[in-house]
Amino acid sequence: MTGATDPTPRTNAALFARACELIPGGVNSPVRSFRSVGGTPYFVERGEGAWVVDVEGRRYIDYVQSYGPGIAGHAHPDVVAAVAAAAARGTSYGAPTENEVRMAAEMIERVPGLEMVRLVSSGTEATMSAIRLARGHTGRNRIVKFAGCYHGHADALLVAGGSGVAQQGLAGSAGVTPGAVADTVVAPYNQVPELDETVAVVCVEPVAANMGLVAPEPGFLAGLRAACDEVGALLLFDEVITGFRLCRGGATEWFGVRPDLWCFGKVIGGGLPMGAFGASREIMSSLAPLGEVYQAGTLSGNPLATAAGLATLALCDDDAYEQLTATATALQEGMLAAFADAGVAAVMPRVGPLLGLFFTDRAPRHFDEAKAAADNGMYPRFFHLMLERGVALAPGAYEAIFVSLAHGPDEIDATVAACRSAAAELV
Ligand SMILES: Cc1ncc(COP(=O)(O)O)c(C=O)c1O
Repeated sequence: MTGATDPTPRTNAALFARACELIPGGVNSPVRSFRSVGGTPYFVERGEGAWVVDVEGRRYIDYVQSYGPGIAGHAHPDVVAAVAAAAARGTSYGAPTENEVRMAAEMIERVPGLEMVRLVSSGTEATMSAIRLARGHTGRNRIVKFAGCYHGHADALLVAGGSGVAQQGLAGSAGVTPGAVADTVVAPYNQVPELDETVAVVCVEPVAANMGLVAPEPGFLAGLRAACDEVGALLLFDEVITGFRLCRGGATEWFGVRPDLWCFGKVIGGGLPMGAFGASREIMSSLAPLGEVYQAGTLSGNPLATAAGLATLALCDDDAYEQLTATATALQEGMLAAFADAGVAAVMPRVGPLLGLFFTDRAPRHFDEAKAAADNGMYPRFFHLMLERGVALAPGAYEAIFVSLAHGPDEIDATVAACRSAAAELV
C-alpha cells in the first residue's frame, strides 16, 4: 500500500510508473524486472500458500516463491506465528541468542561433513565471506567459478554470472575493477578444469539453477573434488538454492560428494533475510574472532530470521521432500505432455524437486547451450501466455521453477491446463 502522502492509484501500471521514478528500473532486484520478457510487473499485495494476489486482486499460482525461500509456500501459519512471537520479543539485539545455536545445530545435523556455520543476512554475504575465508585459510588468491553460475553480486564473483546478469545480457558488471576479478578464473560448467597450486577455491552450484536448470553430469562434482584434492584447493558448494531444497542434507547428501565449504541462503531464512556459510571446525577457526579472516554483521543471526528459518526447517522432513519431488514430477510430466501434444519442442530438466524449462530439444549442459535455448524468443511469449492464465513463472528464462509444499494437485492440474492452452497458442 502506498503511504498516506502518496496518491499513486493501486494498479500495477500506476505503481510501476511511480516505482520507476523512485527506484532504478522500478525494482529492488533486477530479476524482478520484466525487462527480458516485456510488460509491467504485477505488484504483490499478499501471498497465500501456492498463490500470490496482486494489488488489482488478480490471483496467480506462484512458481517464483521468492526465487527459492518459499519452500513452505507463502504465509505458512507456523512461520507467521514464529515470526510474530519473535518480533514481540524484539527484532535485533546485538547479543547472541538461543535460536542462533539451534539454527546452527539444525544445519550441521542435516549436512554431512558440516561442522561449524556462521549466519549472515543474504546469499551474497555468504559467498563473499566464504571466498575471503578460503583465501585467508589457504593463503592463495585465485578462485575458479563456472560460466552461468550465479553466486550473488560480490565483485570477485560477478563475472560470467547467471540469473539477472545473464538476463541483462551482461558478461559482468560495470564498476567492478579489473583488479577485483583478476584472480577469478571462469570455466565451462560440467567440465572439470585444470587447477594448479595458486587456486584457493573452486566455487560451484552443485545443480546450476541460475542459467535455467542445468544438472551436473555424472562424475562432474566428484571430478571437482578430486581435482581440488590434487592441488590442495578448497571446494565450495554454493547451496543457496540446493541447500535444504533437494533433500534434508542438500546437494552434499544428494550427490554424495563433500565440499570443504558450503554457502546457504533462501530456504534457511524462511522468507526473511538470512544466509550462512560453513565448513570444518579447522577451516572455520580461521574466522574472527578465532582467526584472522574478518567477517561481521549487525543483523547476522537476526531473531526474526532464525525464528522463520527454524519454523521452516521443522516442516522440511523426509516426507516433505518426497512431496516436493512428487509435485515437481507431476508438473514436469503434465507440462511436457502438453508441449508434446502442441508440437512445441521443450525440455524440463529436473533434479528432485528442482525444475527448469528450456524451449529446445536437448537439455543444456553448460551456459552456451543454456543461452542458445534461453534467448530463442520462446520464453517471453510463454511467460505472458501463462501469466494471462493465472500462472506466475519467473520473468526471465534463466530462473528455475520453484514448487512449494503448498502446491497441491489442484494447482498442478490448473497449471498443466494453462500450459496446454498456452502451448497451443505458442505454435
Ligand atoms: C546459487 C546462489 N548463490 C548466491 C545467491 C545470492 O543470494 P542473495 O540474493 O540472497 O544475495 C543466489 C541468489 O539467487 C543464488 O542463487
